[in-house]
Amino acid sequence: MQPATTVHNDPTQSESTADAAGGEILCITSSPRRDTSYSNLVAMRVLRELRQVYPGATVTIRDLAANPPPHIDDDFVTATRSVAGARTERQRAQVELSNTLINEIVAADVVVIAASMINLGIPSTLKAWFDHVVRPDRTFRYSASGSQGLLRGRRAILVLSRGGIYSGGPLRSHEHDESYLRSALELVGITDVQSILIEGMALGPEFAERAVDAAMRRAGAVAGVLAAA
Ligand SMILES: Cc1cc2nc3c(=O)[nH]c(=O)nc-3n(C[C@H](O)[C@H](O)[C@H](O)COP(=O)(O)O)c2cc1C
Repeated sequence: MQPATTVHNDPTQSESTADAAGGEILCITSSPRRDTSYSNLVAMRVLRELRQVYPGATVTIRDLAANPPPHIDDDFVTATRSVAGARTERQRAQVELSNTLINEIVAADVVVIAASMINLGIPSTLKAWFDHVVRPDRTFRYSASGSQGLLRGRRAILVLSRGGIYSGGPLRSHEHDESYLRSALELVGITDVQSILIEGMALGPEFAERAVDAAMRRAGAVAGVLAAA
């Protein structure tokens, strides 16, 4: 995978001073539609709103459609979840990639995740990202009382675009994107999660336009909630 893009809000500001001035924002995008993606469009609006709230923030964008993480395999599981750990060159490279992705979320104060609904769930690239990031003793740990997330204190914003409507109505029980993302974030300890839904994009251009307008307005409201917290 190629490195993520890091954008300093104030180009004169170094990474080391960014924390004091407003923290780190990690934005994960995953739509396979890339330039025509509504989730990407609204996520960029969220970033603009967050920059108003955190003028000194450093923004790191990881585009999983452009640079998909590989699916995990036997080597990955051995390297990250066995006592033996990484022994081969391939296993060490897999751990290194996982560490890079984990370090990005560990460094973040706010995580923005943009996702299209693909066949009732999140894009497989985003699932692969979680498979690299959810790791025992790095982002969660097993304890006698169950698993315990290690990334507490961070906040997440989900930007989810869907062809149909799943927040209510007959398709409600077929929604597996937001519920999965909230559960996976909870697993690593992130429970302060706000969602921006862009629904009904397949229901005609007028409906889609209204949905995008509403999502853009909500982007401002969501950033406002973080500012007030
Ligand atoms: C391969 C593929 C599968 C899709 N599957 C669904 C689906 O199961 N349910 C749905 O409501 N929309 C589905 N859609 C429509 C997308 O969710 C919709 O176009 C959405 O806007 C995609 O997000 P994006 O604009 O950020 O790419 C699918 C689109 C594609 C390309």
